Amino acid sequence: MNAITIDGPAASGKSTVGYQVAQQLNFLFFDTGVMYRAVAWAILEEEIDSSDSDAVGSVAEELSIEISSPTSEQADGRQATVRIGGQDITWAIHSRRVDRIVSVVAANSRVRQELSRQQRSIGMTHGSGEGGKAGVVMVGRDIGTVVLPEAPLKIYMLAPVEERARRRLREISLRGKEADFAQILTDLRRRDEIDSQRAVAPLRPAEDAYQIQTLGSSVQQIVDQILVLAVSRLGVEAVPDSETASSADSASGADQA
Ligand code: DC
Repeated sequence: MNAITIDGPAASGKSTVGYQVAQQLNFLFFDTGVMYRAVAWAILEEEIDSSDSDAVGSVAEELSIEISSPTSEQADGRQATVRIGGQDITWAIHSRRVDRIVSVVAANSRVRQELSRQQRSIGMTHGSGEGGKAGVVMVGRDIGTVVLPEAPLKIYMLAPVEERARRRLREISLRGKEADFAQILTDLRRRDEIDSQRAVAPLRPAEDAYQIQTLGSSVQQIVDQILVLAVSRLGVEAVPDSETASSADSASGADQA
């Protein structure tokens, strides 16, 4: 199976690194966090209380989340386009109000059961090369431990919370928005705590994961480190940068689940 799992805390660089690894291997890139974010967005839209676990669980079970590769008109720095009922919610799911409740939503056992099932199905299809790609890079919190425990290469990315807050601040400013460092730091600490203390599928490295400390390394250095591991563990070949397409395909919860 050609599957690489990348887990780790919020803002540890998983998506940036995972996306580039996927491009160089001609693998599907699938950031599973967008699905938890889409459920959180939907419950805000429906004005459901995030602590109402029955109502939140039902929303997750009924929601059809569509994830697709960005078209050329949608190329605005996104790694995937996320839609619900035809509405493009790609950027809305990264808003502060979604950030504030998403960890609570992701701790809901029915939400996890439903989304893990859909994610596993996408991972198995693409990991076996049946989805038109050579494999899959899946990013999240529990991919190596719960969603695809049989993946032959598992990565766990780490960075101190202050460094992750600096990166998040930089990302937000690059989007032309204002943010407060202290507020980001507080939010990340809170999310780390909920993600790692929850009863179901808590954030933790799989026993056989390679742990990569990213402080002091460039994105390219970490990508290269993972590519070396992929070549030896999966027996795949990396495509040189110049030959990779301008954007890697992304998972579609609708048409590939
Ligand atoms: O990676 P992210 O910040 O977009 O994730 C959003 C939330 O979803 C975060 O609280 C962790 C949770 N999540 C999870 O519990 N399991 C995953 N596989 C992916 C994300």
